[in-house]
Amino acid sequence: MNRKDQKTGNAGDVAFSDALGRPMQDLRISLLDRCNFRCPYCMPEAQYSEDYQFLSKSARLSHDEIFRVASVAVGLGVTKLRVTGGEPLLDRNVASLVGRLASLQGVDDLALTTNGMLLSLFAQRLADAGLKRVTVSLDSLDKDIFSAMSGNRGDIARVLSGIEAAEKAGLSPIKVNVVVQRGVNDHTILDILDYFRGTSHIVRFIEFMDVGSRNGWSMDQVVPSREVLATIHARWPVRAVGRNYPGEVARRYQFLDGQGELGFISSVTEPFCGSCSRARISADGTLYTCLFATEGINLREPLRSGAGDDEIAEILKAVWLKREDRYSEIRRPETVEKPLVNKVEMYRMGG
Ligand code: GTP
Ligand code: 5AD
Ligand code: SF4
Ligand code: SF4
Repeated sequence: MNRKDQKTGNAGDVAFSDALGRPMQDLRISLLDRCNFRCPYCMPEAQYSEDYQFLSKSARLSHDEIFRVASVAVGLGVTKLRVTGGEPLLDRNVASLVGRLASLQGVDDLALTTNGMLLSLFAQRLADAGLKRVTVSLDSLDKDIFSAMSGNRGDIARVLSGIEAAEKAGLSPIKVNVVVQRGVNDHTILDILDYFRGTSHIVRFIEFMDVGSRNGWSMDQVVPSREVLATIHARWPVRAVGRNYPGEVARRYQFLDGQGELGFISSVTEPFCGSCSRARISADGTLYTCLFATEGINLREPLRSGAGDDEIAEILKAVWLKREDRYSEIRRPETVEKPLVNKVEMYRMGG
């Protein structure tokens, strides 16, 4: 069966691709731009103090509006939805939105990315609502390093019990995202693997990326995945395994001794734009077609001025047909030395 046959939805059965032949397969939905962490690589404390103006409730899309955009996107062929933030569990009605998204015919995968602090409170409710799985950010098991990498906000015991609660609720496979920063947590990667080896959880090491323009990124803070892989392989031999689905961002590996799976997300040293099928919608209803975008398309305005689903679908489709983004493939030293000042921050766009 091809994609076209599989699709149903309110915009008709449409299979289409962007200017580089990539279908629109995933929609990542940022519920809000606030977060209870201040990870220095994302939301450095000095720049996001207590008086920083995050989006007001009225500036954010309502759940009805998010549901409309998602249902239109699913009608256009999107099969995978991910709820993100900021921290999506700061929205206390997140489970009800998840329930609505789960009801959309054509959604094969529905996941949520969280820092895990509130996960034990929400795991069962999310699972009951129809969430399939969660991805939890956890940069180190070393208490002090973890704390520093969360901007002194995180409590590692709470995150680990959140992961346990998610497992109990059946939100698996649980993926654990580790952003690796040279000189910060790169000496603690084996400890994380040691902890999760032998479970069904999948640890994924992410290269520190030059998203946004406030995290002080420089190439010398990036640990190339091949280096992390070599360290791991020397301790526990691994072998590469194929992708689970077209467009998967992580390269997958398995421990040769059968103790589970791990992965690498290597946007800096091994870009994967060629198969990038992800659209993103920020909390204020802006549609972005690249994580490194400097601008997006305002969907909130048409949503609030009476546009019908067909009109929203036309906007999405027109944007996607023209899409040529491949930032990571064309990243050059000059681009990162003089960062585009207005690259949108990741917590706004939705990681
Ligand atoms: P699965 O659905 O489980 O395969 O996960 P995923 O990799 O799509 O989602 P997740 O939220 O876990 O993404 C992990 C991280 O990979 C993100 O937080 C980003 O850091 C990075 N990432 C995801 N998509 C992109 C992308 O399109 N471009 C780049 N450069 N990085 C991405
Ligand atoms: N580089 C790499 N990963 C990042 N994340 C946030 N900012 C960055 C960055 N600059 C990760 C988070 C989380 C996911 C949503 O994105 O740690 O796992
Ligand atoms: Fe919050 Fe995630 Fe950004 Fe950390 S990376 S500040 S947890 S949104
Ligand atoms: Fe997709 Fe942009 Fe990331 Fe390339 S850099 S994989 S186009 S989001």
